[in-house]
Amino acid sequence: MLILGLETSCDETSAAVVEDGCRVRSCIVSSQVPVHRKYGGVVPELASRAHLESILPVTELALERAGVVLAEIDAIAVTQGPGLIGALMVGVQAAKGLAYATGKPLIAVNHIAAHIAAIRLVDDRQPVAPEVAYPHAALAVSGGHTAIYRCDSPAEMVQLGQTLDDAAGEAFDKVSTMLGLGYPGGRVIDDLARDGDPAAIAFPRAWLGKRRNQFSFSGLKTSVKNHLRHNGVPTGQGLNDLCASFQEAVVHVLVRKTLRAAVQMEVRDVVVAGGVAANSRLRAYFLERGARKRIRVHLVPARYCSDNAAMIAALGAIQHERAPQVGSAEALTLDANSGLAVPAVGSA
Ligand code: KG4
Ligand code: ZN
Repeated sequence: MLILGLETSCDETSAAVVEDGCRVRSCIVSSQVPVHRKYGGVVPELASRAHLESILPVTELALERAGVVLAEIDAIAVTQGPGLIGALMVGVQAAKGLAYATGKPLIAVNHIAAHIAAIRLVDDRQPVAPEVAYPHAALAVSGGHTAIYRCDSPAEMVQLGQTLDDAAGEAFDKVSTMLGLGYPGGRVIDDLARDGDPAAIAFPRAWLGKRRNQFSFSGLKTSVKNHLRHNGVPTGQGLNDLCASFQEAVVHVLVRKTLRAAVQMEVRDVVVAGGVAANSRLRAYFLERGARKRIRVHLVPARYCSDNAAMIAALGAIQHERAPQVGSAEALTLDANSGLAVPAVGSA
């Protein structure tokens, strides 16, 4: 079974062809980072326009790289939400057009559930996917989301808690901007932190008492801002130390809260997904703490952590197998939904 996936929820235009719900035959991601960089964040209107320009060439390239033509595709999966409404609409309209023109079924996919489903993806670099038991706990952590879920199946989940303010990736991006390191900031802070001392500066961790499954990163951001106001923006080793100390504060909270949720749920498996899941310290600390608590931590391969269409196709394949699909004519009524909730238990 071949699924064509399309993803346009934020600032990456992506198309992918995935075979049998897991094998990535092609995955093309056209990043808009250069478009948004000078604004220090994603400008929704510019994102929509850039998606419009890229969606068809990116789709054609994904088909070409997979060595297939559209007629050989079994179904088309597209991100319905959550995300930026104008950006989502471009992908949804393109998918509707392709489905209608070819008579292929159209599958509407939830972006967050797809980040978590990316754990199933395999390719030449990683030919075997980990075996993940259900139910399991999942952390989806990106520039737009930071939340813990109980996943009962790939297409059924319950949100246990989320951030009360900034997403973790947003905190990375804002601190990076304060340090003059540009946007997006996760990767550059990760790189500088490798040579820094994580204990150099005692930044606060928001444990939030009884709100165990919730997160808050705005206090940490303010604390970094105050530190810079008093001490100036460091360079050299001082900059590495600041990056490592900030990153450690984010990572500690993400890892410990997620593992605690898993223990409370009495599950043995945890999936870590989303753009920030590419963070090297987060990955190492999750594995270290997970082993100590006898929890199997499954990390989405770093190349499928940030937004991509392979994850959309992977979840689309599961939905395609389980539920009757919207035919091409009914698909014309599908709308993007910027606030789309994760698929609830019993909905699959
Ligand atoms: O999943 P994603 O591509 O888009 C959203 O759905 O938001 O995540 C992008 C976010 C950005 O905030 C970026 O700074 C962060 O993921 N990120 C990282 C790393 N790579 C990307 N954060 C920390 N460490 C990284 N290595
Ligand atoms: Zn995302």
